[in-house]
Amino acid sequence: MKMMRRTKNVCVALLIVMLLVEVLFSECEGCLKQENDALLRLKAHFGNPGRSFHWVNGSDCCHWESVVCNTTTRRVVQLNLYFSDEEGGKLNMSDFHAFEDLTSLDLSWNNIAACVQSEGSGKRLSNLRYLDLSFNMLNDTSNIQACLSGLSSLKTLNMTGNYLTVKSFHREGKERFSWPTNLEYLELSDNELSKGRLSWPTNLEVLDLSNNELSNDIISSFSMLQHLKSLYLRQGAIDDKRRLSWPTNLEVLDLSYNILNNDIISSFSMLQHLKSLYLRRVHINGERRLSWPTNLEVLDLSNGEFSNDIISSFSMLQHLKSLNLSNNQLCGSVDISGLCALSKLVVLDLSGNSDISSFVVPQGTNTSLSSMRVLELNNLKMEESMLQKLLRAFSSIRILSLKSEESKGTFVAGDFGYLDSLENLSLSGSYIGSEFFKRIGALASLKYLDLRRCRINGTLLTADWSNLQKPEVLTLSSNEFEGPLPITGELFSSL
Ligand SMILES: *[C@@H]1O[C@H](CO)[C@@H](O)[C@H](O)[C@H]1NC(C)=O
Ligand SMILES: *[C@@H]1O[C@H](CO)[C@@H](O)[C@H](O)[C@H]1NC(C)=O
Ligand SMILES: *[C@@H]1O[C@H](CO)[C@@H](O)[C@H](O)[C@H]1NC(C)=O
Ligand SMILES: *[C@@H]1O[C@H](CO)[C@@H](O)[C@H](O)[C@H]1NC(C)=O
Ligand SMILES: *[C@@H]1O[C@H](CO)[C@@H](O)[C@H](O)[C@H]1NC(C)=O
Ligand SMILES: *[C@@H]1O[C@H](CO)[C@@H](O)[C@H](O)[C@H]1NC(C)=O
Ligand SMILES: *[C@@H]1O[C@H](CO)[C@@H](O)[C@H](O)[C@H]1NC(C)=O
Ligand SMILES: *[C@@H]1O[C@H](CO)[C@@H](O)[C@H](O)[C@H]1NC(C)=O
Ligand SMILES: *[C@@H]1O[C@H](CO)[C@@H](O)[C@H](O)[C@H]1NC(C)=O
Repeated sequence: MKMMRRTKNVCVALLIVMLLVEVLFSECEGCLKQENDALLRLKAHFGNPGRSFHWVNGSDCCHWESVVCNTTTRRVVQLNLYFSDEEGGKLNMSDFHAFEDLTSLDLSWNNIAACVQSEGSGKRLSNLRYLDLSFNMLNDTSNIQACLSGLSSLKTLNMTGNYLTVKSFHREGKERFSWPTNLEYLELSDNELSKGRLSWPTNLEVLDLSNNELSNDIISSFSMLQHLKSLYLRQGAIDDKRRLSWPTNLEVLDLSYNILNNDIISSFSMLQHLKSLYLRRVHINGERRLSWPTNLEVLDLSNGEFSNDIISSFSMLQHLKSLNLSNNQLCGSVDISGLCALSKLVVLDLSGNSDISSFVVPQGTNTSLSSMRVLELNNLKMEESMLQKLLRAFSSIRILSLKSEESKGTFVAGDFGYLDSLENLSLSGSYIGSEFFKRIGALASLKYLDLRRCRINGTLLTADWSNLQKPEVLTLSSNEFEGPLPITGELFSSL
């Protein structure tokens, strides 16, 4: 009896060991044999002196560079074969059929000019959701169609930089060019799309046509895109002669680096769902009459030609969270009353408007700017007195940046004393007297202080550092002071 029991125990123990060995062994087994072999076949086609693949038969292909497997199934789900010179510029889609669970394939920068589909060859990348074909030479209709055929799950397609013209999407004969039916995100920037008609995938949500010279034909076709949420038309994609009709459900519109006219600007007000509008470095022809879409949350007007009068146009933007007016032509005395009603504003960037001499802040100092967190005022020639007046309107900020190339002002810590929530303060490049630290205790909530290149010289004065509640990082590099830091070791976790 005792003997039997022991045998039973031994058996159980053996079983457990066997199971363990099997688990361990299956882990060592690595990826599937057919995928391992398919990868080795791909290696023969791809590779150039700049990008060779160190894929060695026998090791676990899930650990190979540029290969990503699902950790549970050990099947290849992602392949990054960019910049690897597909042999002959001809892609044989059958080479990928072994990867049944492949969801993401990057084939950018490969000189691919054609795709080959073998007839009736079973599974055709039916799980592929992301395909990057950017910077190849796929501009011929039948070739594009061959690359895309059967990709029934494809959601994102990148065909940036392929010398595409409108002709590239018109098939000879009767058959029409057709996009993968489930496409939601289409990138066609840096091509040569201009005149002619294009048809779009019906479910498209994001379209990028930046860096093309679009004609009215293409632009008027946008209005068919009922599901389109984001439209990117940067850099020369439109010019001031265009007649625009936007897709009605648009939420993000980027027209940066274009020349716009008043018709275009006033057409924005139709966009009731628009949340983000990017107008970086735009030139506006003619007199400006600005009327913004009222539900806007993000407005980027950086690097433009806007002057003081723009500020009053913001007062209607009750939902605005982020406003970038950096590097414009604000000058002299700037009245910020137009901003003071923006109760949702979180981020404001006024950097680089170097001709501002002062700010007019409404009396009473009780503005509604209570959501403000981030204020960027880099490269303003700011006098301390003018700064104090401005900051009173922004007393809730956590992050303040006053970086400077050639600052006139000499700041002292007390200047920031009424910013009760200030956590990040950057003054790099500004003049800081050694007086600065005297009232450092006033900045109780400060965590990060950046005083790089502040020309601090002499010896540092002792100051009340212990009043700071949670200091973390003080950056003092590129200064000229001497002697010990008047700070006890444990106060800052890193110096
Ligand atoms: C890789 O090695 C396995 C086993 O050693 C072998 O069966 C297979 O043919 C090899 N594959 C290639 C492509 O050389
Ligand atoms: C891995 O595959 C399993 C089974 O198909 C799936 O449930 C899981 O979501 C996959 N994991 C990832 C990260 O895709
Ligand atoms: C593509 O690859 C398949 C499978 O390896 C092969 O049968 C077919 O001949 C290839 N097609 C071309 C045009 O090379
Ligand atoms: C498309 O390709 C370009 C160039 O390779 C790249 O910068 C961009 O991020 C890609 N877009 C997507 C959505 O992957
Ligand atoms: C494809 O690109 C080449 C090189 O730019 C160009 O000569 C040709 O006309 C383009 N083909 C189409 C259909 O646009
Ligand atoms: C404002 O725009 C400039 C230039 O386009 C950019 O560098 C900066 O980071 C932006 N500011 C914020 C707060 O995003
Ligand atoms: C500002 O106004 C709010 C109500 O709108 C009030 O509670 C608060 O006390 C005022 N603060 C100052 C400093 O006047
Ligand atoms: C504050 O500044 C530090 C150091 O520059 C940075 O690491 C951190 O992300 C900043 N915090 C926030 C909230 O931006
Ligand atoms: C510190 O810099 C100021 C301004 O450049 C200069 O006038 C002063 O002499 C310097 N002090 C020391 C001790 O180097």
